[in-house]
Amino acid sequence: MTSASAPGKIILFGEHAVVYGQPALAVPVTQVQAHVQADLAADSETDQRMGDGWADSVRIVAPDIGLDSSLGRLLAERTTHPLAAVMMGTLQALGLSALPPLTARITSSIPVASGLGSGAAVSVALIRALADMLGKPLSDEQVSAIAFEVEKLHHGTPSGIDNTVVTYARPVYFVKGQPIEIFRVGAPFTVVIGDTGIAASTRESVGDVRKLWEADKPKMERLFAAIGSIVRTARQAIEGGHPEWLGPLMDENHALLREMSVSSPELDRLTDAARRSGALGAKLSGGGRGGNMIALVRQDQVRSVTYALMEAGAKRTIVTEIS
Ligand code: MEV
Repeated sequence: MTSASAPGKIILFGEHAVVYGQPALAVPVTQVQAHVQADLAADSETDQRMGDGWADSVRIVAPDIGLDSSLGRLLAERTTHPLAAVMMGTLQALGLSALPPLTARITSSIPVASGLGSGAAVSVALIRALADMLGKPLSDEQVSAIAFEVEKLHHGTPSGIDNTVVTYARPVYFVKGQPIEIFRVGAPFTVVIGDTGIAASTRESVGDVRKLWEADKPKMERLFAAIGSIVRTARQAIEGGHPEWLGPLMDENHALLREMSVSSPELDRLTDAARRSGALGAKLSGGGRGGNMIALVRQDQVRSVTYALMEAGAKRTIVTEIS
């Protein structure tokens, strides 16, 4: 038996603009995790069904999404199932043509379609569990590259930030197509995450932003550039140990995301409630339209902001310290 876990993530600054080459800042959220346990079938040594039907002896159980299927069945579906893509991508990276009979059990406390990187975390945990089980661990770079290919199935044109931060599980300053930079946190700070409880498709919000960009490139590129400059300022504030400067930057970033049509009444209600209850700043985080928002708070505000978010309709909150 081998197992692997991967954390969720939040984007502190820069979502959407990052798809167009601007930088973004993201951090792991270890309070929520995807977990995969891979068990070789007891008879695997004598019954190596490595012929054409090998995929029928690979079972994937994911109770959170009501899935209990063989890999063979998933591969026969008309559109590629992301979990099948993870397994096939891992095999390819390992230079193998088949998996031995096994069961992969997938559980996750990361809410699906909520901007917390649940798809990327499941991919990363599954890749690592399989590679370890086969005695061929992969580098972080390889793991992230496989997960990126699967992100394309989830999101269409992802920047790669989700698979990167979830794989490395460190604070990341990310620019699409460039080597990752881990950023330093000069002084720890606290963020309250508020979940609207509304599942929202990142593929759809990213696609809508693309339509707006196609309709008016100069305008959208001005918005992206404004977000890029917020991200660079935020990185300096974080590295310089001035997290209190991040509040107004979050508010500004949220306003720009609203202009890009990716907020929602629920996200606006939660960000307003956070600010009214004393948070230093607040913004949506991730693809938007639903999912999660984040609020920057001082330690002594955690309770009041959490309470205000629940009163304003949050389905749950997570308090995370970034250090
Ligand atoms: C999703 O977590 C972040 C987006 O910027 C999409 C992406 O970067 O792939 C909305």
